[in-house]
Amino acid sequence: MADSSRGTYWITTFGCQMNKADSERMAGILESMGYSAGSGEDQADLVLYNTCTIRDNAEQKVYSYLGRQARRKRDNPALTLVVAGCVAQQEGESLLRRVPELDLVMGPQHANRLDTLLSQVEAGQQVVATDDHHILEDITTARRDSSLCAWVNVIYGCNERCTYCVVPSVRGQEQSRLPQAIRLEMEGLAASGYKEITLLGQNIDAYGRDLPGITPEGRRQNTLTDLLHHVHDVEGIERIRFATSHPRYFTERLIEACAELPKVCEHFHVPFQSGDDKLLKAMARGYTTARYRRIVEQIRKLMPDAAISADAIVGFPGETDAQFRRTLELVDEIGFDLLNTAAYSPRPNTPAADWPDQVEEHVKVERLKELNALVERKAKACSQRYLGRVEEVLAEGINPKDGTQLMGRTRTNRLTFFPAGSHRVGDTVPVRIEQVRAFSLSGSAQAQPALVR
Ligand code: SAH
Ligand code: SF4
Ligand code: F3S
Repeated sequence: MADSSRGTYWITTFGCQMNKADSERMAGILESMGYSAGSGEDQADLVLYNTCTIRDNAEQKVYSYLGRQARRKRDNPALTLVVAGCVAQQEGESLLRRVPELDLVMGPQHANRLDTLLSQVEAGQQVVATDDHHILEDITTARRDSSLCAWVNVIYGCNERCTYCVVPSVRGQEQSRLPQAIRLEMEGLAASGYKEITLLGQNIDAYGRDLPGITPEGRRQNTLTDLLHHVHDVEGIERIRFATSHPRYFTERLIEACAELPKVCEHFHVPFQSGDDKLLKAMARGYTTARYRRIVEQIRKLMPDAAISADAIVGFPGETDAQFRRTLELVDEIGFDLLNTAAYSPRPNTPAADWPDQVEEHVKVERLKELNALVERKAKACSQRYLGRVEEVLAEGINPKDGTQLMGRTRTNRLTFFPAGSHRVGDTVPVRIEQVRAFSLSGSAQAQPALVR
């Protein structure tokens, strides 16, 4: 029996979808322990920050939040203060020295052990859990923010060594979940009414390389492509997405599977990071811009209407103006539907942070501005193709700016608004697109039923 006298909790989540998925599982654990969701972080009995350290500004945010909670704890010693996620893993013990009020510092691999760790805290200990850990299959039901769209981890960690990136050191070695466990989770989600699943991994193309299995023809089994086939027919799930793809491991077989399997949405997120081959080499990305262009060509050949999004970094150590221009050229040529851009930020325990040829801050800022302007122009151009078309939109919620409208996403992941009429959240609605903007669309619901795929 859950103990319902534990009080309220509040979780603030920074960073990527993996952290969001971890937070939902930790919220599920807290609720199974008898905590209930609180109404604000300054009232809650347990405050948990699930942190991100991908760039310095992400890390610094946490310290300002923590300062306030530490002061609150001095007046209210019963407050339980937890730092989870990637800053916790990176800083470990030293976080306790910096913020002695903390009760628990726990790395991402320990998310599913929150109850065990909290019982140590309740027994009076100050706990740091950052050792390498085999991630347990989670038996608690996650408390998910959406009741329609869910994230499902398929592979934890990352074995790449991109020279700018902190993720391998904070998320540890790759650990793939078994296909059966993933399917079981999806079946459970379908039974609770979920319609869209996003399969998650930092390098999702690496899925299965730590699992056994070779086909009689000598091909590796348990690839991402095999997984998509394995989970595709889960009844009730209408849409399947996956992220993040790595150009080094991305296969044509995967695109073929996406083209063939009707529930897999027409959207690929394949970060390229830089449009210059020398920089890609310095980043240790393991591909050239020619290979990246071929991937895009293959996607467009097999799935001409698929959306393509990516991530890029400006101001990587040594980046010259000419090299930055090559990134602009690539963006101009491919015309991404969406591009997440960032100025390079030196991170602890990463090789590039120690290189002498760091780019000056003001140059990074200017490059970022120039790139973002191009990205917006290109995204606007991409949006044009939707004008007048009927798109299948899964209504995920109410437009926060207009209560008479529903909002959702097209299969290609474009945010779309439309007047609700008789439709409700959870419906899959054919919407005729009447207005297009760089990153969103508006239209009106069509009478005919949505295509049954
Ligand atoms: N696994 C994904 C990316 C994970 S991190 C991949 O391999 O592409 C998300 C994005 O943050 C990266 O794609 C990169 O564009 C950005 N990023 C990572 N480290 C960074 C750093 N040190 N400075 C700036 N941006 C960074
Ligand atoms: Fe970081 Fe590279 Fe791994 Fe992506 S693939 S998480 S950028 S090390
Ligand atoms: Fe940030 Fe950790 Fe994700 S560093 S981007 S929360 S893996």
